[in-house]
Amino acid sequence: MKLFIVGGAGYIGSHMVKMAEKNGHNVITLDNLSTGHKNAVIAGKFEFCDILDEKKLNALFSHHKPDAVIHMGAFSIVDESVKDPFKYYQNNVSGSLNLFKAMIDNNCKKLIFSSTAAIFGEPLYLPIDEQHKKEPINPYGKSKLMIEDILKDFDKAYGLKYISFRYFNAAGHDPDGELSERHEPETHLLPIIIQAVNAQRDHVRIFGTDYDTNDGTCIRDYIHVNDIALSHLKGLKYLQKDFPSLELNLGNGNGFSVKEIIKTVKEMTNKDFNVIEEGRRDGDPKILLASGEKAKNKLDFTPSFSDLKSIIKTLI
Ligand code: UFG
Repeated sequence: MKLFIVGGAGYIGSHMVKMAEKNGHNVITLDNLSTGHKNAVIAGKFEFCDILDEKKLNALFSHHKPDAVIHMGAFSIVDESVKDPFKYYQNNVSGSLNLFKAMIDNNCKKLIFSSTAAIFGEPLYLPIDEQHKKEPINPYGKSKLMIEDILKDFDKAYGLKYISFRYFNAAGHDPDGELSERHEPETHLLPIIIQAVNAQRDHVRIFGTDYDTNDGTCIRDYIHVNDIALSHLKGLKYLQKDFPSLELNLGNGNGFSVKEIIKTVKEMTNKDFNVIEEGRRDGDPKILLASGEKAKNKLDFTPSFSDLKSIIKTLI
């Protein structure tokens, strides 16, 4: 298929681009390089484009005529979204609307959308399945839930077929070592720990040790970026068969606390670093854990990096 990958210069996007090209797709990355890096786009073509620029979007769609879009072009830092919600609603909601309008106007009606576990808020039960109540506790999660609602209406009204994947915690790097995660500044737990291992920072902070969990720290479900990319390739095949739109949770089904991760990395690398315990960070739910049942049933998808150590191995 000819694919537009919006946000293809980002962490997850660049892994997606590489895997899609490797699997025979013709990929064009659209990115405004606000958080991505042009040299992370190691396959296909690159078009500089901000999704707030309706004219440019329309021109690109009518020129390239893609068959489908993978939309990963969003701001995604929970804490930042609490401090600067405008940025999140403007880019993630208005920008996505522009993109969907350009798609529909140019008769491109297949979409893979990067949603998030943050749409659920504090879990009422575990693991979190697709039916779980959606009560996001931060603007980032709210911005993604708004798009999921918009997509339902656009499917009915305009026939836009989509799969919305709710990522739990994306982690790991390209096992070939060609790609990595380069956020500036870095806010995510695993890359921060790896920086401490490599002596690029002198400590790791734990945000909150008073959560109602086994060791008091937050639990997350980490899924390898290549598994995310693989699920999307399966998603494209599904959409090619003109099956109905879907929402799917995307995790590993295993939860690890912040302290467990620090301990595992220390053991695997045999390196020690300072750990400082601090207060809670804004907008963090105590536990996020995915049910993978629906993704397995609908797409025959199961993660190949199924345990924490195999994910960490790609980082060290
Ligand atoms: N954490 C620390 N210290 C750090 C960084 C993080 O203790 O220096 C903790 C956080 O408080 C949280 C956990 O580690 O409990 C994971 O934090 P990350 O920042 O790595 O990831 P988040 O869970 O905040 O967010 C990620 C994505 C979001 C997505 C969410 C869904 O960035 O886009 O997963 O699970 F919504």
